[in-house]
Amino acid sequence: MKEFIQYLPKVELHLHIEGTLEPELMLKLAKRNNIHIPFKSIAEAKDAYNFHNLQSFLDIYFQGAEVLINEQDFFELTWAYLLRCKDDNVLHTEVFFDPQTHTERGICFDTVVNGIHRALIKGTTELGISSKLIMCFLRHLDEESAFKTLAQAQSHKDKIIGVGLDSTEIGHPAGKFERVFIQAIEQGFLTVAHAGEEGPASNIHDALNLLKVTRIDHGVRCSEDEALIKHLVTERIPLTVCPLSNIKLKVFNSMEQHNIVTLLRKGVCVTINSDDPAYFGGYMTDNFFAVTNAHSMNKTEIAQFSLNAIYASFISDSKKEQLRIVIQKYLDVHQ
Ligand code: ADE
Ligand code: ZN
Repeated sequence: MKEFIQYLPKVELHLHIEGTLEPELMLKLAKRNNIHIPFKSIAEAKDAYNFHNLQSFLDIYFQGAEVLINEQDFFELTWAYLLRCKDDNVLHTEVFFDPQTHTERGICFDTVVNGIHRALIKGTTELGISSKLIMCFLRHLDEESAFKTLAQAQSHKDKIIGVGLDSTEIGHPAGKFERVFIQAIEQGFLTVAHAGEEGPASNIHDALNLLKVTRIDHGVRCSEDEALIKHLVTERIPLTVCPLSNIKLKVFNSMEQHNIVTLLRKGVCVTINSDDPAYFGGYMTDNFFAVTNAHSMNKTEIAQFSLNAIYASFISDSKKEQLRIVIQKYLDVHQ
């Protein structure tokens, strides 16, 4: 089973590139860019990764991102992540980035996008990993800042497929960004949003109704609303679930109590993702291991996570079909 999971072809749909900053690279970039960080060693950094909720994580995550200054830094960050994808047999990934985390510090929007994009292109040509890039607005900032960020994205529409919404969920309702999302949709961007991670199931309704998103990031608190679960099943609205993240940020007390397998068996289009793997203790395969160690599952069910992610992805129908065939063949050979 371990080997089956390790080599299972995977698709990742919920990954913050800033959350892949491993302590080793953080220390290297801090030195190279002469940026002060409060950690002297990898062990010291890892010791600080003890979170009690989303905000306590976000504070450390934004601090870590301060070492990213030049295009080459964003390139190296993204390239390191893609090498991890290769190890985990991730064939396609949809990567989030938070432009405001950088532009607020005086880093140029173009520097961020160009560095990430250059690595994604190299990932396709040298590693055979396809990708899409999604720009997230920080929900703790205001609507004006989001509009400004959307304007900055106009000259990068060839590189950015969609917009998302992340950062502090509680106290920052989706409605604050309704007008920004409407404009983004008019401009041709696809839309996703974090909802129902720390916040209640009603936040998932708001993301669907106000922001017109086609998939929900996290969404695990849908369990509080049976009618919503039915709606997710009948409309086949995907959830990009992040199991290790949810445990680290205390959304669930233990992986045994996580609802991803229950949701899968109810017919919800749930997927497995790593969110911020450098901070939460694992990339894609580790997340699959964590779920399957805590919940007894057969191979067909485990492969369904990959099939769901293919369905939920922003790739063309023909590429989806190609990937489905890859999964089916893998299942046939390894059953
Ligand atoms: N930004 C990075 N990771 C996040 C998460 N899990 N929730 C909200 N915002 C985030
Ligand atoms: Zn996230």
